[in-house]
Parts: sequence; structure tokens; C-alpha cells
Amino acid sequence: MVPVTAPTALRVALLGCGVVGTQVVRLLTEQSADLAARVGAPLELVGVAVRDASAPRDPAVDRALLTEDAEGLVRRADIVIEVMGGIEPARSLLLSAVAAGASVVTANKALLAEDGPTLYRAADEAGVDVYYEAAVAGAIPIVRPVRESLAGDRVRRVLGILNGTTNYVLDQMTTNGLGLDDAVRQAQALGYAEADPTADVEGFDAAAKAAILASLAFHTRVRIDDVSREGISSVTADDVAWAAQTGHVIKLLAICEVTDEGVSARVHPALVPSGHPLATVRGAFNAVFVEADAAGELMFYGRGAGGAPTASAVLGDVVSVARHRVLGGKGPAESHYAQLPIASPQEAVTRYQIRLEVDDRPGVLAQVAQLFAERGVSIEAVRQAPRPAAGDGPAGVAHLVITTHDGTETALAATVAAIEGLDAVQTVTSVLRVEGA
Ligand code: NDP
Ligand code: HSE
Repeated sequence: MVPVTAPTALRVALLGCGVVGTQVVRLLTEQSADLAARVGAPLELVGVAVRDASAPRDPAVDRALLTEDAEGLVRRADIVIEVMGGIEPARSLLLSAVAAGASVVTANKALLAEDGPTLYRAADEAGVDVYYEAAVAGAIPIVRPVRESLAGDRVRRVLGILNGTTNYVLDQMTTNGLGLDDAVRQAQALGYAEADPTADVEGFDAAAKAAILASLAFHTRVRIDDVSREGISSVTADDVAWAAQTGHVIKLLAICEVTDEGVSARVHPALVPSGHPLATVRGAFNAVFVEADAAGELMFYGRGAGGAPTASAVLGDVVSVARHRVLGGKGPAESHYAQLPIASPQEAVTRYQIRLEVDDRPGVLAQVAQLFAERGVSIEAVRQAPRPAAGDGPAGVAHLVITTHDGTETALAATVAAIEGLDAVQTVTSVLRVEGA
């Protein structure tokens, strides 16, 4: 009889034990038997690196595993999970890990969007995996579908709500009439937004995710600096009310597409028609649409943030890279063979809705329309609308809402500048893009 030897345990190091890391520890512990069966070998958590090992922790975390020596920890692991965030020391630690032969799993979108290729190259040379499902849209499986399931197709466009905090904020402004600051405070109280909400509110978080998705979808290196970014800090309660009056909701969208000029990636608030599926994405949820030549349209929806949902994505990656170590082989390397140019944000084509207050007298609309025509921006619809709170506008002022057909940012900006120069125009109140129509 052949003696049966127990498979050798795989040593797992965890970098970071905050919102996500704590849930990773919990799942690794609670599901250890299932995970061992799925991997074909037990996963042994050998250490948890934190900034302050004496700080209070969730009871799920065995304090004996805590260490402040992250560099020492990564050298004694087969798999390193990085959920500490930030660029350094995360980058150096992951590079040390792959140099020592460990596979890595990370949720760190900021690092990948800033300098992912350095890590991918190092991992490729070392013959180990880098997996990062949790870095984009939390629990939603989107990295693997784009990287693997759609590898035989040609992706044209990725459009989505990639930031749960801003979606919650805009949803509160829409459904409960909150102002931006109150809605952000509420998001902080619920643990969605951090004490410093800049990364979410100003669109940096969504831009990092857009860079990662665009890189995967278009086989081209796209960095966060290549993404044109505008957050929601300028969205007013008035914008939200007008959006409703014109049959829209405002969403912070990430849009990655291939155009004749190359890869275009942008993050900005946009008007979405109320009947569009993205308009129904409420609270802190995320949703992503992918359009591919053969597959057509695909939609992914779920929780884009939070400890347990994000830990679910992390653990899925851990099982994949662990299986590779047990069975041999490795996952796909970075694919950037297409090397498409990055298109100028000024050439991005979309529709716009412009609101302006003008003198209410004959000929003004014709003057405004003329400026659009001169710059090749085609008007789809004009309405002279009552203000949302009817009757509270000053006498002699007309509120125009102009929606355009597709036009470039350059043409639109030139048109708006010209409109602002008209004597009859009192103010251009807002310029918002319209998507998903
Ligand atoms: P937290 O701030 O809650 O936790 C960070 C952890 O990393 C803490 O335990 C901290 O230690 C530790 N840490 C930070 N810097 C160092 C350092 N220099 N040396 C050692 N340990 C360090 O972050 P989150 O859990 O929210 O996020 C982690 C990662 O996951 C980020 O990259 C984030 O973008 C990503 N992510 C987060 C999601 C979420 O919903 N929170 C969703 C998707 C991705 P200490 O506890 O001692 O301070
Ligand atoms: N802060 C992010 C969000 C979660 O609100 O979606 C981490 O990616």
C-alpha cells in the first residue's frame, strides 16, 4: 500500500488588518477546511503585519500572529495578501515577496494604477502570480471576466459606477434631497467614506479602477494619470433637482473605450436617463457594463466596497494562486501587446446638457443656437423650463436647458466660452455630460 502523506500547508502572510484584512482573517479561519479542500492543501496564516501591533483588534485576529516586521514576514510566505493600501511600503513589500518566490494577492488599486507594470514584470520574471480581483469593484467579479473570460473577444467599452461612496452620496442627494456635505457626512457615519473623503469624492478611487480596467480590456498600459478625472464636489442640489426634472439621475461614471484616437478613460459625473439600468444602482452598490464585439453587452452588479465583500474577492484570488502552487502553472501574465495610444481627453465624444439663465426677450435663443452651430455642436433639444421650485426665479430671466447630440469636449468648451460672452446670458449654471441614452 502506498503511504498517504498530508499535503504541505501553504504559508499565507497578510499585510494589513483593517476593514478588509480583519475580514480576510475571519474567512481564512472560519472556512479553513473548505479552503483546504478547494485548494488541495491547507492554508496556514503565518503572520499579520500592521502598523501598531498593540492596537485593539477584532477577536477573530489571533494577537500572536501580529507583527510590525512586514519585510521579515513576506520572506517566510508562499502567498502574500496585501490589504494595507498606499504606494509605499506596499510596493516594496510586494516586490520583496515575488523576489522571494511568493505569489501575491492585492486589493490595492492605487498602487496598481500608479505602478502595476513594475510588479507584473517582477512576478513574471519570478514565475509567480499577481491577482487583484478586489482592487476593482469590491466583491464584483470583473477583473477575471475581462482578463480571462473575454480574452477571446474584442472589448470596445467599459462603463460603470466604480465607487460606492459617491454613489451613496448622489443617491442620498437624489432620494432624500440632502446637500453634498450632509450626504458625505452621512457616508462617513456609515463607514463608506473615510475621514478624508477626497479619494472618493474627487474621483481618484474611480480613476484608479478605470485605469486597471482599461489596461485589461484594451491590452494597453493605462495609468491613473492617463484618466481624465472630475469628482462630484461641484454637483449641487440644484443640479440633482434639474436632473430629475429632465428625466435623469446624476451618477459618477467611469468610461473606458477604444476610439479612432486610441484608448480613452474618463471619470466624471453624468446625467443618466432614469430608465437606464445604471440609474437604478442605489446606495453604495457598483455596476459595470462591458461591451464586446462578439459577446455584446454584459452587466455586473454588486457590493463594491466593505470588509466582507472585498474579502470575498481576496479569498477567491487566494484559492486560485494557491491551486497553481499545488498543481503547477500560473495565471495569465500582464497583456499589453496592443500598446494603443492614449487619446486626449479633449477628443472624448459625448452628449451634454447645458443650463443657462438668459434675458427673457426675443432673439436670445437664436443667438445661443448660432454659437452651437458655428462650432459644429448639434442641438438635440431645447426647453425653456420653469425652475424646479416654480416661480422663484427673478422676473425677466429665462432658464434654458439645452441638450446636444454627440460632440467633443473641445467643441463644447469653445461653445460654452462663447455663450458666456453673450450680453444676454446672465450665467451658465451647469454643464453636465449625458451618458447611457
Ligand atoms: P484600513 O485603513 O482599514 O487598513 C489598513 C491596514 O494596513 C491597517 O491594519 C494598518 O495597520 C495596516 N498598515 C497600513 N500601513 C502600514 C504599514 N506601513 N506597515 C504595516 N501595516 C500597515 O484599509 P482597508 O482595509 O479599508 O483597505 C485596504 C486596501 O484594500 C486598500 O488598498 C483599499 O484601497 C483596498 N480596498 C478597500 C475596500 C474597502 O471597502 N475598505 C474595498 C476594496 C479595496 P494598523 O491597523 O496598525 O493601522
Ligand atoms: N472607497 C471605495 C468606494 C471602496 O467607496 O467604492 C474601496 O475601493
